[in-house]
Amino acid sequence: MENEKLSVSNILNSPFSFHVSEFSNITPSLISEYVDAYTSDLPPVLQELERETFVKCVNPRMLSGKLQGQFLNLICRMLKPETILEIGTFTGYSALSMAYGMPENSHLYTIEANPEQEVIIRKYIEKSGFSEQITLIIADAKIEISKFENDVFELIFLDADKINYPLYYELLMPKLKKGGVLIADNALWSGAVVSKTSTDKEVVALRTFNDLVQKDSRTQNVLLPFRDGLMCVMKLS
Ligand SMILES: C[S@@+](CC[C@H](N)C(=O)[O-])C[C@H]1O[C@@H](n2cnc3c(N)ncnc32)[C@H](O)[C@@H]1O
Repeated sequence: MENEKLSVSNILNSPFSFHVSEFSNITPSLISEYVDAYTSDLPPVLQELERETFVKCVNPRMLSGKLQGQFLNLICRMLKPETILEIGTFTGYSALSMAYGMPENSHLYTIEANPEQEVIIRKYIEKSGFSEQITLIIADAKIEISKFENDVFELIFLDADKINYPLYYELLMPKLKKGGVLIADNALWSGAVVSKTSTDKEVVALRTFNDLVQKDSRTQNVLLPFRDGLMCVMKLS
């Protein structure tokens, strides 16, 4: 276990780490396997998409995966959003995870800047039968967001270029309905955001983003130490 890098959630969740240290044969990877085993499976088409992403794409680890996919799916079942916006589609795993949980009359817009992803995204949107409910926009989200009308989304999943998270926050909050939720991935950046002295561009941007959220009087928020950190923000006014 000493050789194994502890996950952010292990480090942050001290009672959990305490129990781990009591049993030297329990490693973070064993816990991960357990967590995976006790999380419901998503539809098989998502497993197929994950396999194809790992075979064909550069940086396949950007894909949300089962745990985060299932979390987003449950959020959709609980919130029942009629309109969802995702920034950063990659191969479509998180978009489809949300689509499987959203009500039938909902619509999900997902924006991806890299045109090389379009074929695989469209293939799996079609395979999963969501062609009518998902609109894929291949373009720069920083430009596309302002084209939507005011107050249109009940759920927003932000998972694109981290250096622009502060800008995305300013652009997205006016598009989020009152009572709506914005979830931003990678808010912990492997824990690096804790460093106040880091000059790394992503760290500085994510720290600025987290500060913007925390100081925003319109919202209630929780930074979940889940995977790479999910900043969950509800717009109250
Ligand atoms: C971490 S991946 C998204 C993973 C995906 N949400 C999932 O869970 O499977 C980030 C994606 O954002 C895209 N991206 C980066 N900058 C963007 C921009 N300005 N507009 C739209 N997409 C962008 C990247 O091309 C990449 O595919």
